[in-house]
Amino acid sequence: MYIGIDLGTSSVKILLMAKDGRIVDEVTQEYPVYYPKTNWAEQIPEDWWQGTLNALKILIDKNQAVKAEIKGIGFSGQMHGMVALDADGKVLTPAIIWCDQRTADECEEITAYFGQEKLSELVGNKALTGFTAPKILWIKRHFPEIFEKVAMYLLPKDYINYRLSGDYATDFSDASGMLLLDVKNKCYSKPILDYIGITEQQLPGLHESYEVTGKLSDELKAELGLSQDIIIVGGAGDQAAGAIGTGTVSEGVVSVTLGTSGVVFAAHDQYKVDAQNRLHAFCHASGRYHSMGVMLSAANCLKWWTDQVAITDIEVALEEIDDQITDTVFLPYLMGERTPYADPNARGTFVGMDMNTSRKEMTKAVLEGVTFGLKDSLDILKDMAIPVDEIRVIGGGAKSIKWRHILADIFGHKIVGINTNQGGALGAAILAAVGDKVFTSVDEATKAIIKTVDAVEPDLKKHAIYLEKHKKYQALYQCLKTYFE
Ligand code: XUL
Repeated sequence: MYIGIDLGTSSVKILLMAKDGRIVDEVTQEYPVYYPKTNWAEQIPEDWWQGTLNALKILIDKNQAVKAEIKGIGFSGQMHGMVALDADGKVLTPAIIWCDQRTADECEEITAYFGQEKLSELVGNKALTGFTAPKILWIKRHFPEIFEKVAMYLLPKDYINYRLSGDYATDFSDASGMLLLDVKNKCYSKPILDYIGITEQQLPGLHESYEVTGKLSDELKAELGLSQDIIIVGGAGDQAAGAIGTGTVSEGVVSVTLGTSGVVFAAHDQYKVDAQNRLHAFCHASGRYHSMGVMLSAANCLKWWTDQVAITDIEVALEEIDDQITDTVFLPYLMGERTPYADPNARGTFVGMDMNTSRKEMTKAVLEGVTFGLKDSLDILKDMAIPVDEIRVIGGGAKSIKWRHILADIFGHKIVGINTNQGGALGAAILAAVGDKVFTSVDEATKAIIKTVDAVEPDLKKHAIYLEKHKKYQALYQCLKTYFE
């Protein structure tokens, strides 16, 4: 059996998977996010660790009968966060996490120094506020006394690996989001490290997601009541691990995640980068590469709408919408936007209401607006000549059949469901099983475990109407851009 640890933003989920992919049990523990200033988002690594340790204890306690069969641990982790440790492995400062936006100046500075073309050549991506390198530069500028003491910079899930095993290890998919990795050549980028003022010795060793990086320490084995050796694999960033959990590994398969944030993820065999770096160009947990567009608020827009404005339950709001296409346009940029605009100042808006516009139409506009945002990423994939043969959808929003129809109609593609909604935690456990040689490759494992189940076909008449509405949606951002600044 294999344990998948999914270190999320609001909670850690630990899942126990049998060798054949069957989910045996899962345990979740929550922890807080702190927002000490506007645009700041921090977490305490010790909270992650205590949550993980508690969840492991509960899981093993509940599964005493099979605990001797546990063979390995894998990770899925919230990406981009900066954990800074001193020479004794002690945390020096709260972790600055993925949605923190404080580093706009540092991003500008990095981009101005290298120029976007050179930066793309070095690390395949834009300097975005969420990424790790600008955070390190921010610490250097604002807390030089801490910067001087840092012996190791880790990503969130890699801190958990360190607490479990004592090893400093990361994987290529998560490291891709640091802006320190030469994604194409799978090594740290010396020019960027030099510019930031750090060395490779201050960064964790690089591994494939399914590679064994170490094993569970003897102290923890004793504390958890385990006597066998437990291998630990590198694991992956949450989106790459999630893609393993949806079987998005071969070229042509694209997954769409309708979670708090929204993601369009395409797997490909060769390294590919958009000429304007509109999508993230990252390594995949399969050992190959992927392109990804990230919307900062997706299903979260529906939560905002029902909690703060419509004052109703999500289920009620979804129940009352019908299949009319609305005249109202909603921009979903409630937390700024990453893809396609990389604009932390963008904001949400409704346009086009009249005296007859009702709550259900505005709910529908919210679902359409989020889906248009995802279509923006899908269109960039097509622009890059990345094949889109099959679209798989997961995440909380994917549970709604009405939203799946809107996806199919707006994309003009068949939307395929899969036999599990476990995402990253399952992907993490699969990576551990591959590391333990239950499968010869990630591809073989996902083929055996992940099955497509149902499909929603697009209504092509509606698709034609939506194509026009999508143009208006895109024009609206351009009109409002200067207002947002
Ligand atoms: C990916 C990203 C999010 C975070 C939090 O680029 O920013 O997926 O990892 O989930």
